[in-house]
This record gives sequence, C-alpha cells and structure tokens, in this order.
Amino acid sequence: MEKTVRFKLNGQEVGVESPPERMLLWILRADLGHTGTKYGCGEGFCGACTVLVDGKPVFSCQYPLAKAEGKDVLTIEGLAKGGRLHPLQQAFLEHDALQCGYCTPGMILQAYGLLLRKPHPTEAEIAAALEGNLCRCGSYNRIVAAVQTAAKGMKGARP
Ligand code: FES
Ligand code: FES
Repeated sequence: MEKTVRFKLNGQEVGVESPPERMLLWILRADLGHTGTKYGCGEGFCGACTVLVDGKPVFSCQYPLAKAEGKDVLTIEGLAKGGRLHPLQQAFLEHDALQCGYCTPGMILQAYGLLLRKPHPTEAEIAAALEGNLCRCGSYNRIVAAVQTAAKGMKGARP
C-alpha cells in the first residue's frame, strides 16, 4: 500500500508517495531522478549506493523508504555548494582517484561520513571505513590519498 513519506533530500523537503518498503535507492534514482546514487549489487555487498542519512553512511539498496521519514538524506548531488566542488570531490580529481567512476559517488559519501565523525583519520582508519565500498578498477591507493588530502582541506567546508 502506498504512503507519503517525507524527508529532506540535499536540504530540500520532499514527499514521496510509494510503498514504504521500497528501497531508498530506487526512490532516489527512479522517483527523484538522483542517478548519482548507483546500483551495483543491490544486496549490500558493494557500497555503490551509499548515501548519508542524518550524517551516517547507509547502503540505500538496503534502506527502506519508511526509515527515511523525517530524516536528512544527502546524495552526491548535494555535496557541491555554490558551483564549487566539495574538497573531497576536488581531491578525487586531483589524485585521479577514479577510472570508470562508478564507485565514486558511494566512495565520496562513505569518506564524507568518516570525516564527519573523525576529521583527521589515519590511513588505516580510512581504509577500514571504505572497506565495504568496492572499486572494480582498483583505484584504492589513490582514493585513500584523496581522502587524506580532503581531510586537510575540509575546515569550514562542511555543508
Ligand atoms: S548496490 Fe547497494 S551495496 Fe551494492
Ligand atoms: S573507479 Fe571504476 S569502480 Fe571504482
């Protein structure tokens, strides 16, 4: 049965009419046109679908719409501000931390979640935080380096 579920998407109030058990991934991509959130495995094994909910990374393919009620959802589309890339996005570019780019939105949001809870992570902490986000292009070393660079440039840059 359909229900209207309201939440904030990248700072804007949205109301979605849908069966509340549908996964947030499909609401974001199919209903709201936020296709930066990627479908990889659909089973919680790859992290391509990572978004932040109330500042915490979640795999949106495993997150029913009902749980998003009243919460703040951040997708990759909401990270740049005023036409300027977020320091994490900038650092990924500077370090060439992507090849096909399919894992990149999820990686960046997972990294952002880490920097919100731990602004100065060690290399090991970055690797551990990104463990559930797979990169089939094998860009891991450059991704970790990008996160280290972004951590240095994040002061005052949080949305
Ligand atoms: S698509 Fe969600 S974890 Fe793979
Ligand atoms: S850059 Fe291709 S999957 Fe990571």
